[in-house]
Amino acid sequence: MVVVNDYESFQKERKKLQGSVGFVPTMGALHSGHLSLIQRAREECDFVVVSIFVNPTQFLEGEDLDKYPRKDEADKKICQRAGVDILFMPTVYSIYNRDELLLEAPRVRGFILEGAKRPGHFDGVLQIVMKLLNIVKPNRAYFGKKDAQQLALIEQMVRDYFIDTTIVPCEIVRDESGLALSSRNVYLSEDEKQRALSLSRSLKLASDMISSGELDTVKIKEAMQELLLKSVDKLDYVAIVDREFNNLETVEIGNSIILVAAFVGTTRLIDNLWL
Ligand code: PAF
Repeated sequence: MVVVNDYESFQKERKKLQGSVGFVPTMGALHSGHLSLIQRAREECDFVVVSIFVNPTQFLEGEDLDKYPRKDEADKKICQRAGVDILFMPTVYSIYNRDELLLEAPRVRGFILEGAKRPGHFDGVLQIVMKLLNIVKPNRAYFGKKDAQQLALIEQMVRDYFIDTTIVPCEIVRDESGLALSSRNVYLSEDEKQRALSLSRSLKLASDMISSGELDTVKIKEAMQELLLKSVDKLDYVAIVDREFNNLETVEIGNSIILVAAFVGTTRLIDNLWL
């Protein structure tokens, strides 16, 4: 595995890869969720590129940019063991310019749910993902379904800008208790971890209601909210949308996503279920 920190060095290494390239963009603090993306890329492509870059433009004022977990040495070992070919860890200065051209998330889909709670977040996500796709030029890029809205917007960007990369959505990875893996889970105390389980439990409750024939999204959301409000410190939203992120009145099996976002302590968590 080679580790490179700037565009020019990356290009030199990229030219040596003769075959299909799978790309896993990350912000580091790698966990089994990231590993599952790397493994999938390994299975489906000749070469695997991973990027680790804590992207400042997707953090809002007052968010956790400065304390976002950074585990560069451990991450390098994980990538090495997982068979990564190039690990790209650029510096902020090698990626961003002053007064540069900006990319904006779509006015509707980019500013609902996560986009409403974190206005401007998706502008930063799309800006960095566009840059990384242009630098890495992968055949396939792997993204987790946990960031469902991010995934939908990246798929849209690739379509709208005719980018020649296939976006591969990957399943959410959970720990044995059901908690969706996230780099931010390290912020949770034991008590908060227990309370954070209410997110996956609320999704299980929704899934059970749907299995018993309840398709009315108002009733499902009410039941989820009741469960969540017993455990979380602040509920940001519970939503049931179709795969285009339009609100649904009735669950459509095969075309629905149930999403939840909440604070447990000071940690903001998201989770979802694709139906
Ligand atoms: O999902 C993430 O880790 C980040 O949003 C991404 C896609 C690596 C862009 O910084």
